[in-house]
Amino acid sequence: MRLQAEAVNRLRPAYEGRRVLVTGGAGFIGGHLCDALVSLGATVTVLDDLSNSTLEHLAGLVELEPERVRFTQGSVLDDDALIEAADGASIIFHLAALGSVPRSIDYPQRAWSVNATGTIRVLEAARTVRASRIVFASSSSVYGEDPRQPRIETMTPAPLSPYAASKLAGETALSVWARCYGLETVSLRYFNVFGPRQPADSAYAAVVPVFAKKMLLGEAPVIFGDGSASRDFTCVDDAVLGTLLAGSSSSVGKGEVINLGTGRSTSVRDLASIIAKAAGVPHIVPTFEPARKGDVPHALADTSLAKRLLGYEPAWRLEDAVEEAVRWYRAALARI
Ligand SMILES: NC(=O)c1ccc[n+]([C@@H]2O[C@H](COP(=O)([O-])OP(=O)(O)OC[C@H]3O[C@@H](n4cnc5c(N)ncnc54)[C@H](O)[C@@H]3O)[C@@H](O)[C@H]2O)c1
Repeated sequence: MRLQAEAVNRLRPAYEGRRVLVTGGAGFIGGHLCDALVSLGATVTVLDDLSNSTLEHLAGLVELEPERVRFTQGSVLDDDALIEAADGASIIFHLAALGSVPRSIDYPQRAWSVNATGTIRVLEAARTVRASRIVFASSSSVYGEDPRQPRIETMTPAPLSPYAASKLAGETALSVWARCYGLETVSLRYFNVFGPRQPADSAYAAVVPVFAKKMLLGEAPVIFGDGSASRDFTCVDDAVLGTLLAGSSSSVGKGEVINLGTGRSTSVRDLASIIAKAAGVPHIVPTFEPARKGDVPHALADTSLAKRLLGYEPAWRLEDAVEEAVRWYRAALARI
């Protein structure tokens, strides 16, 4: 994770010497967020049950900064573990979740329990330890079947999967806890975040790592549907920047819901070409299979609210961010 110098200058006063909790901090986005928080001078506790991650990255960070990074293995469904991890934290970044739309279709009750009930438990822990703010990792999937693009926060959500429904429940809880208990809360709707360290091997892995790995192995990736489905692919560094701004901005805290994307739409077919080029295999063409249940056809972020409330400006061009991710997957494959 590299914050640009201007962002560091802007964010350091808000985080230097501050104690924060990151739930899900051993995961993909959470790990990058922890890197950035440490570089800004914060003291970070991570609570993660490692159900979808390993300690590979975080252990290195703890070793490097033992005074400022602490890891607790535990679930957001365990009140005692939560309160212990949150103790003394003024800001909680709540990223722990059972991710992936297809996984939630296979395990709906578990998705609801971790993502919706787990969020209420984090809110209650925040009240117990008197944290001042919670930033919640929500998802663009809550927009669901509404065909209008770009997605604007004022649109009525229409979730198409248990995952999206559970994220919408989390957002609603954050807004209610702000009203009833004066806790500062803000929800961020991430749009297809990708970058180094995002897992490529699970059955529920995201599209960028799956395509990158396949192509680096010289194999054709599978596109579900005809490839015209499109997404707002967001570099993890930009998602982290927006998340840090949400943790520190004085213009939010009343349960706002804010898109975090780039404002650029890319079809899955075009994404495959960009990855093939970055991987040095432009001749590889994808194969096609029927579209999957629960997937939304298009998702493009309107980022005006993030700009207005957070001063958020995405810094990465898609092609450059894909190149960097592919470089990371190439190095990871070479290590095997
Ligand atoms: N990656 C994306 O494109 C994207 C898009 C929209 C929203 N999000 C949301 O952002 C957050 C981070 O996503 P990510 O891509 O880093 O996923 P991730 O799976 O890498 O990270 C989630 C982390 O939460 C942990 N976790 C799961 N259940 C837990 C529990 N009960 N208690 C404690 N920890 C638990 C996992 O072990 C993992 O480390 C998630 O809330 C996800 O739903 C991600």
